[in-house]
Amino acid sequence: MSINKNRRATVGALAAAGLAVLPLPLLAQGRKLKIGLMLPYTGTFAQLGEAITNGFKLHVAETGGKLGGMDVEYVTVDDESAPPKAVENMNRLVRRDNVDVVVGTVHSGVALAMANVARQTNTTLIVPNAGAGDITGSLCAPNIFRTSFTNWQPGYGMGKVMVDRKIKSAVTLTWKYAAGEEAVNGFKEAFVAGGGKIIKDMSLPFPNVEFQPFLTEIASLKPEAVFVFFAGAGAAKFVKDYMAAGLKSIALYGSGFLTDGVAEAIGDVGQGLVTVLHYGDGINNPKNIAFRTRYATTYKQQPDVYAVQGYDAAQLLAAGLTAVKGDLSKKAEFHKAMSTAKIDSPRGPFTLSKAHNPIQDMYIRQLKGRDNVVIGVAVKGLADPALGCKA
Ligand code: PHB
Repeated sequence: MSINKNRRATVGALAAAGLAVLPLPLLAQGRKLKIGLMLPYTGTFAQLGEAITNGFKLHVAETGGKLGGMDVEYVTVDDESAPPKAVENMNRLVRRDNVDVVVGTVHSGVALAMANVARQTNTTLIVPNAGAGDITGSLCAPNIFRTSFTNWQPGYGMGKVMVDRKIKSAVTLTWKYAAGEEAVNGFKEAFVAGGGKIIKDMSLPFPNVEFQPFLTEIASLKPEAVFVFFAGAGAAKFVKDYMAAGLKSIALYGSGFLTDGVAEAIGDVGQGLVTVLHYGDGINNPKNIAFRTRYATTYKQQPDVYAVQGYDAAQLLAAGLTAVKGDLSKKAEFHKAMSTAKIDSPRGPFTLSKAHNPIQDMYIRQLKGRDNVVIGVAVKGLADPALGCKA
């Protein structure tokens, strides 16, 4: 059927249904924005995927169930934090479900595959967590955005803080995949430049949580401190195992994911832990206070960094949609408006670098009660070096 015949059929059907017959442009404007949410809803990062979804939908609710004036509908996929399934899941959203934009994901390995598909298909992709450097590095593109961080950012910030604390030797431990390796590299860059010595780098496959052999080795190596990257349920188990192994006298540090969103699961044994991240629970600005109140009222739980990143993904998308008045055929203009948006985030306002990664403060936080309380700033306005980005 030709487009004209198609249109006549649609108009005819509307008229038959007794509805006003609108001119075509208005019909097009009335269509819904189709958002693919590709996130983990099972496995060690399940809670992180939920928080991102909640944060995203909280902003949509604040603007009357619409984004940039458009009604929204969601197609949700559980990516299981499984890289081997990533391309197929992303292709399903883009090619079968024809979504307008994809929001995802948490796991760097999955997100790297998503970014490749997004580049091939010019699909708008907003990454609300995964920190793989290449997403806003060698894979950077006009249609790819991130509202979270690079793994390098908090790792580097933590390294600086450990130097300031006069720590001279450290062991590193992480899951062996892009996120962990990049966080450790960021940490080492700052720590070694400041005179710190790495005694040993250790790792285990994602998402294994058999930490005991590593804890035994740390006890015998006796470093002054340990730097780790773990997140989600695995992070909570790590902190509990570390303290149960009697290692409290060896200072434990990490990217703030170690304690963010998992303070309840860690319980009292994590009190006092110091980490670095681009968010902290008690940030004292009106946006954060309003955000935390609304989130707690809506979801009957406290928000965390993941909820903030999801919320900001919706804010970024809204900025682009508003600029083109919901006309997604103006793709270049849509992407341009997103790239220059100033996001009023609960973490504090931020803009995006040329590579589309947030330029943001790295906070020093300490776990007190169930809150990651900000006790200082490790680095102000930190931009990822975006190595390999030709933007
Ligand atoms: C990642 O895979 O990039 C990742 C996952 C969980 C986090 C942070 C980074 O909390």
